[in-house]
Order: sequence, then structure tokens, then C-alpha cells
Amino acid sequence: MISFRFVWFSLVFLTGTASATAMSDAIPNVYAQTRLSLNGKWRVIVDPYDTGFYNYRRIPYDQSDPIKGGYALDLKARTPSDLVEYNFSTSQTLLVPRDWNTQDDKLFYYEGSVWYQREFSYRPTSPDSRLFVYFGAANYRADVYLNGRRLGTHIGGFTPFNFEITGRLKDGPNSLVVRVNNTRLKEGVPTDSTDWWNYGGLTRDVFVVEMPATYVATHDIQLARGVPDRIAISIRLDGSAASSTPVTVSIPGLAFEARLTPGADGAARGEFPVAAGKLRRWSPESPKLYDVTIAAGDALVTERIGFRTVETRGPDILLNGEPVFLRGISIHEENPLRGGRAWSEEDARLLLGWARELGCNFARLAHYPHNEHMARVADELGIMLWEEIPVYWTIQWENPDTLANARRQLAELVHRDRNRASVIIWSVANETPVNDARTRFLGTLVADVRALDPTRLVSAAMEPHHEEHAPDTRIIDDPLGALTDIISFNQYIGWYDGLPEKCDRIRWDIRYDKPVFISEFGGGALEGFHAAPDVRYSEEFQEELYRRTLPMLERIPAWRGATPWILADFRSPRRPLPGIKDGWNRKGLIGESGAKKKAWFVLRDYYEKKAGE
Ligand code: GCU
Repeated sequence: MISFRFVWFSLVFLTGTASATAMSDAIPNVYAQTRLSLNGKWRVIVDPYDTGFYNYRRIPYDQSDPIKGGYALDLKARTPSDLVEYNFSTSQTLLVPRDWNTQDDKLFYYEGSVWYQREFSYRPTSPDSRLFVYFGAANYRADVYLNGRRLGTHIGGFTPFNFEITGRLKDGPNSLVVRVNNTRLKEGVPTDSTDWWNYGGLTRDVFVVEMPATYVATHDIQLARGVPDRIAISIRLDGSAASSTPVTVSIPGLAFEARLTPGADGAARGEFPVAAGKLRRWSPESPKLYDVTIAAGDALVTERIGFRTVETRGPDILLNGEPVFLRGISIHEENPLRGGRAWSEEDARLLLGWARELGCNFARLAHYPHNEHMARVADELGIMLWEEIPVYWTIQWENPDTLANARRQLAELVHRDRNRASVIIWSVANETPVNDARTRFLGTLVADVRALDPTRLVSAAMEPHHEEHAPDTRIIDDPLGALTDIISFNQYIGWYDGLPEKCDRIRWDIRYDKPVFISEFGGGALEGFHAAPDVRYSEEFQEELYRRTLPMLERIPAWRGATPWILADFRSPRRPLPGIKDGWNRKGLIGESGAKKKAWFVLRDYYEKKAGE
């Protein structure tokens, strides 16, 4: 059907698509910036065939096409004869932030595109200000348009991103349109197979953020490594005056003030003494946070930062130079009481409050970057964190685009949380198959994270194996262990590997002289299902498994902590068992109703004893 439409498209296509703005580093410390919240009800169009993104020849529209520019144009029929086959203003609504799966039964399993649209007006407080539209995350791909013009695309479902919209706002309402597509992809990060629910949508906060003409794009303020009582500061300004605006960093609680002069690239760095013995280190027992301000011309950043050091020495993990045992728990980003992705400060206080109640000083935020509130609340509560990117299971190790995607997500995570004292471990992978391509891929990520942030430990959740001739000896010799600071691995003796009594005869052969960390262990139980301890899925089975696992781990001389799998039951499409799982992974110590299972008390008592040692 060669038609007027085809002619239009070829003309427009040849003139190139609308320009997209470069995606700058996400605005740091966004909750302290001048901003307009775009949270609330958005109009949405569910678009399983991507009718709003491709023409009938499956070629992406260019919004300049006045006839069929796709949903991004947010067209309205002007006359009764106009051909417009969508209408945001009369479409259904969904809440932002929230996943779409738990807002509409028709979307519970939905994987595909949903178009979000809302209008907003914004008048900058200063004519020199710069404006950005900021997203805490969108799972998995987001194509963003303002007033019919493409701003750009972000790929990765768990890290923040923004596009500059300075000078692009109209007086009066502006139309913001976002296509979010959560289709799982073999080349994706994560790949198309995971053990968690593929929640799609604008799952975190959305803001219009107003920044000064020259603003603080990156700040990193930490204790200098290897020398006492010095603070290392690294700042990068962005804007026309970036190389000529002096920077002052103040920490009133320490009577500390440092002045830095940026170079031609807008970057400034230095180490500065702090009054000896005046600085109270951050720790779980004393999570001291200092008010920090960064002033640079019209830019003023206010932060709350804790100062601590973390390192390893032989088999020990040292926090502020002292050995520490990580009494942890793994956490998925779900609020089981409400269902769906957790996203708010209240959700963070619920999940980390449970961890505190369990006696934890540590948590593993699995298997992807959680929302920013988690690290900020952990800073306050004194809970150390393991944060990770979703390089999970069978990633496409030989695909350069997949590697670039993983590297970008890692950089976006480090950029966002680099000032959070609670974060002590960056992890680059979970349960990945041992082969050369994978170890090269992960080696690149380890090198990246050491370059981005040499102040924290690097890890990955590896897996044990055994040899036929020694069935009860578990070996850890993954070549990745040569690159990481700690030897972390998931082990499921007594659940996937034999029954709980097997724990009693297991021996460990760990081929590295580094701290050993058990990044997962556990088993499933349906809350309220009680039976003899040999009845799988009973609370008693899970309780017995915990009882037998802990002494087995104590036989590892360099054992320095664990994050049992998992704090609370969470949804997974891999768990269909009717009457027991019904689409939930039941390894939680807390059930979907919030009830604590019997194994919770085994771990809580164990951590209480460990804390007293
Ligand atoms: C693996 C994996 C988890 C998964 C767990 C399980 O260790 O890392 O994501 O949920 O096993 O099987 O429950």
C-alpha cells in the first residue's frame, strides 16, 4: 500500500529524526534539589504491538511526521474528519511511581510497551537556570519525548537518568510522553531469565529539576585512604562557568572548610586535614552523619555524609580498622504487604526496619540497584550494604552492547550512591557460569568499579562445586575470586543439594586467602504451614535448615558474614506450585502477610549471640 503516508515518511526519515539531547549523569542528591514532582496519575496507553512507536512497516516513527508521528506527538483531533487513532486525555490512568503489574489485573503479567503522558507547567526561579526531567528509574527501556520532540532513550531498569530540557518548555502546559518497554531480552542486563517478577513502568520518582547555570554534577567526599584524619574531595562542575567557579566544601560539625579551584574540565579535587580526633567515624553502632555543604557560585549542595573506612586484611573485613562480622540478610525491592516494587522512603524504612529487628548490621540489596531511599535510610540506621547490578545468570558475555549496558548501569549506580557510608560492597555478578568470556566480561566490570571508586570492596556471588571423588567437599576456586576483595558465594546445601542433615557432613575447600562471605543460603516455607521438620515447605523444615546451616558455615575459618536468602517472600513467575508457592518464592523469613516464620527466630538468636562476641 504505497500511499501518501509512505511518501511523507521517506521525506521525514531522510531529514533525520528529531535531535535527542545527550543524557548527562543523573543529577546527584536529587531530593535536596529545587524540583517539581511529577508523581501522581499519568494517562497511559497499553501498546502491545508498539503501534505508537513503529509504522505499519515496523519502522520507528519520526515525530516530525505530521500524519502518523506516533503517540509521542500527543496529537489531538482538531476537526471531526481528523485521523488520530489515540487520545491520551481520555485514556486510562496509572500511578507514578508504581509498577503497572500491581495496578491493573490486565497488566499483572504484561510485558511490552506502555505509553505514559502527563502535562506540566514550570516557571524557573531564575532566567539562568537549567532544567532537567529526572527519572529515578524506568523498567526496562524508556523513550522520552517533550512536546512531541524526542529527548532520548535510557536502557536499564534500576538506575536514575535525566534529560536537559532548558529552553524547551512552553508557557503553559507541556506534554511529557514516555514509552516504557519491559520486554525481557536475551541481550539485556538482566537477560531474559531471572527469579524475580518483571515489574514494568515508571517505578520510581519523576521530577522536573531546576539547577543553576553551573552546577555540581558529581561530588565525592570521603575519608582519604591510608592516612588518618584527612578528607578526600572530588567535585565536577557542569556549566559555562565550570572552570572558573571556586568551590567551598564546609562541614560545620567538624569546623572544616576546604576551598578548591576547578581545572579546565570543571573538575576539582584535593585532600584536606580534619581536626585530629574530632571526626566521629560512621559505624552500625554509631551511624554518625555530618551536614556537608558544597558551594560553587549559585550552586549550593547540602548532603548528609558518614565517614568510615572499609578494607580487608587476610581473612578479615575491617570497618574503621576493626574486624567486623556481617550479620546480613538479602532483600528484593518489593513491599510484600502492598505487592509490587518498593520505591518510597516508607518502603525503605519497612524493609530495613525488619532487617534491624532481625539483628542485622548488613543487607544485600539483590539483584539490581534499589531505589535511592534504601542507601539513605541505611546510612541513618547504621546498616552496611552490598549493592549490585543485574548481571545475573546467563548474560550474553560475547555481546559488546551487553557489556556496554552493564558498564553503564554500574557507573550509574556508583555515581548515585558514592557518598553513602552504608554502601561498603559493589557486586558485579550473581551466579554466573565459569567460562573465559564471562570472566573477561566481569573482569572489565571489576576494573571499572575500582577506577570509579577505589574506596569500597568489590565482590560477586559465585558458586561452589564438588568433585565426584569427594562428594561432601565443596570447592570454591572460581577464577573471579582472584579479582574480588572477598570470596562470596551462594550455597543451598539442604535445599537444592540434599536435605538439612547433609549440612552436618559438608567440608569446605576454599582456594583463596580472603574473607569468605555467604551471599545466599536458605529454603522455602509457606507461612503458617506447620509439620514435621522433614516435610518440605513447612516452617519447621526451614527452621531445621537454618539450625544446621549455621554450624556448617562456622567450619569455614575465614567466614565473615552472610546474607541468607531472603528477608521476605517475593513474587516470581518461576514458582507455580499451587497451594504452596502460587507465583511466590517462599524463602522469605517473613511471609507475604508480614508474619515472621520460625526460621526468623533461629537467625535472630544467632545474630544476637554474634553481636555479643
Ligand atoms: C539463586 C538466585 C536467587 C534465587 C534463589 C532461589 O541463588 O541467586 O535469585 O531467588 O537462588 O532459588 O530462590
